Amino acid sequence: MNLDALNSVATAMVAPGRGILAADESTGTIKKRFDAIGVENTEDNRRDYRELIFRSKEAMSFVSGVILYDETIWQAAADGVPLVTLIEAAGAIPGVKVDEGTETLPGFGRETITRGLDNLSRRLPKYHERGARFAKWRAVIDIDTGVPSRGAIRANAQALARYAGLCQAADIVPIVEPEVLMDGSHDIDRCFEVTATVLKEVFSELFEHRVQLEGIVLKPNMVIAGKKCAKQANVDEVAEKTIACLKLTVPSATPGVAYLSGGQSDVEATAHLNRMNEIGGFPWPMTFSYGRALQAAPQKAWRGKADNVPAAQAAFLHRAKMNSLASQGRWSLALEQATP
Ligand code: 13P
Repeated sequence: MNLDALNSVATAMVAPGRGILAADESTGTIKKRFDAIGVENTEDNRRDYRELIFRSKEAMSFVSGVILYDETIWQAAADGVPLVTLIEAAGAIPGVKVDEGTETLPGFGRETITRGLDNLSRRLPKYHERGARFAKWRAVIDIDTGVPSRGAIRANAQALARYAGLCQAADIVPIVEPEVLMDGSHDIDRCFEVTATVLKEVFSELFEHRVQLEGIVLKPNMVIAGKKCAKQANVDEVAEKTIACLKLTVPSATPGVAYLSGGQSDVEATAHLNRMNEIGGFPWPMTFSYGRALQAAPQKAWRGKADNVPAAQAAFLHRAKMNSLASQGRWSLALEQATP
């Protein structure tokens, strides 16, 4: 393992004014996104969509890295250029989702564990050879009555730590993503309590598994009320509680924090990130690693039509630029609403 190289990549992933594009929707998840815009979920359509995103030159200047799905990392653009090459040409780092989704944890009701450890040590060198310099593994923690359980939290934290260790051994920076879902009716304080407990456990397992924190990027959820909670927290409260939660649990050796959007609206995800960076006072750069909050707008503009590519690229540029500003605490609603 070359820790200096891992640290350089991790630092570049959270470089000032830049963040990560999570374009790693599985074939099943991109089907949901395509269904919403009336596009058939074919291999060519998936390629065409991702190609238009990665060829968005100006928008990509705000993107430090792109998380790809396994299919995408092996795909080429319509003219035969590998999509990985387009990303590198845009000045961004290619990465890859290496988890294989979740399955229920036996004995734990609906709680899940993330799959994909079995062949990981053999898959990682192939991804590295293809150009991937970082990877992603997502653990999913739900909040409900009596959930999450200690056992499920521990099992997911251990899997994240095993994954992170294997990545570092293959000179790939692990994005460590323990996502506490914002589904459900819990309030923001319950999200705080669960997120803090999960992060404590994750960093404890990373330590036990001898993962070098200088060579990871943390991808957490923000501390936020459940979607069905009657009492939604305002932007200040989300920002303050998220910062407080991470300061309690995330060691300062961690090179950076890149949040998932998790079902927040585009503008909410931007406003929350911006407020945190306005407040400041934490030891890590805080940026975005958004999927939906960066791509919902371009997908809506595209709708599968070649004629709509410029409009889709303009919509992507606007979101990428707004989130870049938010990662520096320089965003405002006025800039958001200015005609792109
Ligand atoms: P969202 O920002 O849409 O939550 O996606 C980020 C991601 O990579 C989830 O694993």
